[in-house]
Amino acid sequence: MENLVEARGLTKTFKRADGTPVEAVKNIDLDIHKGEIFSLLGPNGAGKTTTISMISGLLEPSAGDARIGGHSITQQPLDAKRLLGVVPQEIALYTELSARRNLDFFGRMYGLRGSELQHRIDETLDFIDLKDRQHDKVDTFSGGMKRRVNIGVGLLHRPQLVYMDEPTVGVDPQSRRRILDTVLRLRNEYGMTVLYTTHLMEEAQELSNRVGIIDHGEIIAVGTVGDLVLQVGEQDRLVFEVGNQPVDESLLRRIENDVEGITRAVYDAPGAGGELDDNASGQIVVYARRGRRALSPLIQIINGAGLEISAVQVKEPDLEAVFLHLTGRALRD
Ligand SMILES: Nc1ncnc2c1ncn2[C@@H]1O[C@H](COP(=O)(O)OP(=O)(O)OP(=O)(O)O)[C@@H](O)[C@H]1O
Ligand SMILES: [Mg+2]
Repeated sequence: MENLVEARGLTKTFKRADGTPVEAVKNIDLDIHKGEIFSLLGPNGAGKTTTISMISGLLEPSAGDARIGGHSITQQPLDAKRLLGVVPQEIALYTELSARRNLDFFGRMYGLRGSELQHRIDETLDFIDLKDRQHDKVDTFSGGMKRRVNIGVGLLHRPQLVYMDEPTVGVDPQSRRRILDTVLRLRNEYGMTVLYTTHLMEEAQELSNRVGIIDHGEIIAVGTVGDLVLQVGEQDRLVFEVGNQPVDESLLRRIENDVEGITRAVYDAPGAGGELDDNASGQIVVYARRGRRALSPLIQIINGAGLEISAVQVKEPDLEAVFLHLTGRALRD
């Protein structure tokens, strides 16, 4: 597998106003293969933007370096940057200009001119599906449309590699869908390599060939979704909704013991234990290998303890479970 990006020892330490250091990114190594969509998945403040900014030459690393197509971003920034298009997290457009004029302006910044530039603009407007609104001012656009223009700017010079920093934040579901489809087309139809950041595991799961999970400035796992999920031991998550009924500690013990025989399971019922009368989550959560097989005996045990179950969910392991497994925290918090 050919690497288009190789980051080694990337580190960034910021200084707060009072002088205390913030280690935003700690010694990250990262390979991105040619032609893949690689997602950097992590919660707010994990270091996604800082990492991407260093790899794209917008921010000087405190230590380490990244190579794009073999060119060092710190030593040969012009050669490296020629290969990449950046779609920043903050929308950077001239809102009083039309979509077309924005593309024209940024195209000139990339050194495009004349009929070639006009041709690229037409192509890009087609790609982001904004041809019919091309002459309207950007400040009359919805959030999702602005995002699409922002993406278009990053694609104008046909880079080999595109960075997109949380491009679906703050857009409606329909625009989100279009943006995700755009990302997939970049890879599938144009053979581009995409480095995508998100704090949404569904997006990482749908889009990525490989995912890097980032937390507190460190990459804590890298691999295909399948690889990562294997790391958590393929346990399904079974959720039994029991509403406001108090959950007794001894019931949880029985579930733990009985299920052990059928599958291997651990229980986790937030709101139980110390707060038996206030079963806040209203759920009994069981992790079990091949969880579906444990479903019917578990229902019997829970019903047998006098609890009514209003709903049951079986969730196969996903990136959320991987994150929880690795950090002890939920990705969404
Ligand atoms: N210019 C700066 N000065 C000081 N601290 C900063 C600066 N930029 C980022 N940080 C800190 O570095 C850490 C990583 O921030 P970063 O923006 O890379 O996270 P992120 O994963 O992109 O988060 P989000 O999902 O919110 O965009 C955070 O603790 C942030 O407060
Ligand atoms: Mg960010």
